[in-house]
Amino acid sequence: MTTTITVIRGDGIGPEIMDATLHVLDAMQLGLSYEFADAGMVALEKHGELLPQATMDSIRKNRIALKSPLTTPVGEGFSSINVELRKRFDLYANVRPAKSFPNTKSRFPSGVDLITVRENTEGAYSGEGQQVSADGETATLVQKITHRGSERIVRYAFDLARKTGRKKVTVVHKANILKSTSGLFLKTAREVAAQYPDIQCNEMIVDNTCMQLVMKPEQFDIIVTTNLFGDIISDLCAGLVGGLGLAPGANIGTEAAIFEAVHGSAPDIAGKGIANPCALLLGAAQMLDHLAQPQQAERLRAAIVGTLEAKDALTPDLGGEGNTMSFAQAIASRL
Ligand code: NAI
Ligand code: MG
Repeated sequence: MTTTITVIRGDGIGPEIMDATLHVLDAMQLGLSYEFADAGMVALEKHGELLPQATMDSIRKNRIALKSPLTTPVGEGFSSINVELRKRFDLYANVRPAKSFPNTKSRFPSGVDLITVRENTEGAYSGEGQQVSADGETATLVQKITHRGSERIVRYAFDLARKTGRKKVTVVHKANILKSTSGLFLKTAREVAAQYPDIQCNEMIVDNTCMQLVMKPEQFDIIVTTNLFGDIISDLCAGLVGGLGLAPGANIGTEAAIFEAVHGSAPDIAGKGIANPCALLLGAAQMLDHLAQPQQAERLRAAIVGTLEAKDALTPDLGGEGNTMSFAQAIASRL
């Protein structure tokens, strides 16, 4: 059976890492077919808009997209394309695994294996009520948390634990101070946790969580939290395991799911063919999990780990002398 996915090659290093990723996916012979769609600067130049209707239609139809980073022009009144995609497809779960890899510059070459599940649509990032007073003295913003939004993200985290054989979910909050918003999130999380007696649940305040992550990251399995905390914590976790070149992310909703690298379009190295393709490849592995092909996902991850272990054709960010495509070829040869 053929599965069609929407492929967005993106801006900057996007096309380079996407070509490398598709090279590896092709070598896996998964029966995937690609529908290419434009977004970002490349779409603005070709079609006059950052997010053309044809791209939205393609994602809506295929329900799965693999996406390279996009450049949002700064200061020209454009809102972030990534935020726009999350809104339009209600991609409520931002799922970011962080696992130790060999031969990276990480302080934790082993022992870290956790997933951050971040609520992606509410809280401080919904953009509601952003105001600065006429005299420029006071700025305000509405932080809205709903029972429904909290319920579905916490349920997602517990279901993910069951599906992946993980044992513990840590609910990260600040309910001691943010009594209404974080309080509602925590109360809802407790209700959901009670329905999963097979999964251990603990609660941790966000500032302590940051310290604990840096001191003893092995204690975490799945973390679930609200939008702003999740944004910060998931980057912290990427830093624990070797940085941006190895950090993938999935944006999952009921209507569609978009898989990507966490990093941006890296204009400083674009066109040089030296970008690390691993983050997008690991995003593709998340996509295979989502497509109910966990064995293929593991096959891909094992080939990436094997290539890192052998220090074969690593890109310069990992201290190697390889390039984007030679790295991908080394990974493909280990499948
Ligand atoms: P960035 O992630 O593009 O780059 C930060 C640093 O990391 C740079 O030095 C870059 O060379 C390096 N880097 C990033 N990915 C790499 C890779 N795969 N291999 C080797 N080195 C890598 O962040 P920056 O510079 O803040 O943003 C650049 C553009 O990307 C902006 O227009 C921003 O809006 C966009 N962006 C897009 C995202 C997305 O589409 N998901 C996410 C983050 C930023
Ligand atoms: Mg972020």
